[in-house]
Amino acid sequence: MRVCNVVAARPNFMKMAPVVLEQVRRGFDQFLVHTGQHYDANMSEVFFDELGMPRPDVHLNVGSGTHASQTAAVLTAFERVCQERRPDLVVVAGDVNSTLACALTAAKLNIPVAHVEAGLRSFDRTMPEEVNRVVTDHLSDLLFATEDDALVNLGREGIDDGRVHLVGNCMVDSLFRHLETAVGRRPCERLGLEPSGYALVTLHRPSNVDEEAPLRRLVDAVNGASRRLPIVFPVHPRTRERLGRLALTVAPHVLLAEPMPYLEFLGLMARARFVLTDSGGIQEETTALGIPCMTLRENTERPVTISQGTNRLIGSDPSRIAAAVDAVLSGRWPEGVRPALWDGHAAERIGEVLSGWESR
Ligand code: UD1
Repeated sequence: MRVCNVVAARPNFMKMAPVVLEQVRRGFDQFLVHTGQHYDANMSEVFFDELGMPRPDVHLNVGSGTHASQTAAVLTAFERVCQERRPDLVVVAGDVNSTLACALTAAKLNIPVAHVEAGLRSFDRTMPEEVNRVVTDHLSDLLFATEDDALVNLGREGIDDGRVHLVGNCMVDSLFRHLETAVGRRPCERLGLEPSGYALVTLHRPSNVDEEAPLRRLVDAVNGASRRLPIVFPVHPRTRERLGRLALTVAPHVLLAEPMPYLEFLGLMARARFVLTDSGGIQEETTALGIPCMTLRENTERPVTISQGTNRLIGSDPSRIAAAVDAVLSGRWPEGVRPALWDGHAAERIGEVLSGWESR
């Protein structure tokens, strides 16, 4: 069996690295395609070095664009790869535009698709990722789920449960594999901060950063929180562009930084007092680490991080954010537990399923 693994954008790398490495360990005939949806060195290249993932065998260099043009560019370029290399299975991860595009390309060529992180639903179709998730799952032959809620969602949509496998969380595999090294590098001390004496912020959702009013409110809230403790804010390129265009400034105790390499961010997250974020992956990573997470959204596709973990939906209202900061700093935040199968062995379970599927 020849497997084509796909990566595209920052959150894919930590999900796919353990899956690719497990296939290498099992001696699969596999190759790696990078669509190039993310291309800056600190959004892409750096993750390969740190995660020990093989370099891509094929780079599609699609770059940025509107949803249609980016998706179309991946469809066209990936079709050529599939026709030339004839994989027996295409493995995609997460919910970015390239995930959908590669799944669709493969399905049209009658190549089976495996989806890592299947079944997550925010039930908010205004999120581009929700559309990508739903369509990718319906095109997939093997669906690898991270949590029980995903099984319920897929069942409700009529997806045959024989195709669905609860394997756990590959992003948590990467986290456990690299945590000691990340913390050992002491990134907070290098920024002059005390462990547990600072918070981390990330913002990149179009609904939070594309329009002036929500972004201004969130910057005000972050500035307010920085009066309680210093805040480290690695800025996504989408957000940096908007902050610059709107000339929004941050308070003195908000430390703006470039997007961070994986190990630096993980080391900082593991020692943060709390995290304010609109990312999906960080909701999971903070739950795995037991760090309080305030999600700056009205919904989440990862409800287990709330029902079991340390995540809470706070939205973007500055008074709710201030109250949540207060709750953490006064010790009123749930400790949470790590969900079942978020144990560092998800990729091994995927490898097991793939081996069984090959010899079916
Ligand atoms: C994408 C994903 C989102 C994921 C996020 C993680 C989609 C629909 N969105 O959003 O689900 O959470 O990645 O980061 O797939 N840019 C650069 N350098 C890069 C990449 C992007 O400067 O390496 C800039 C470009 O101006 C680009 C903008 O960021 O237009 C947005 O990039 P894009 O990949 O379209 O979406 P993200 O916001 O990164």
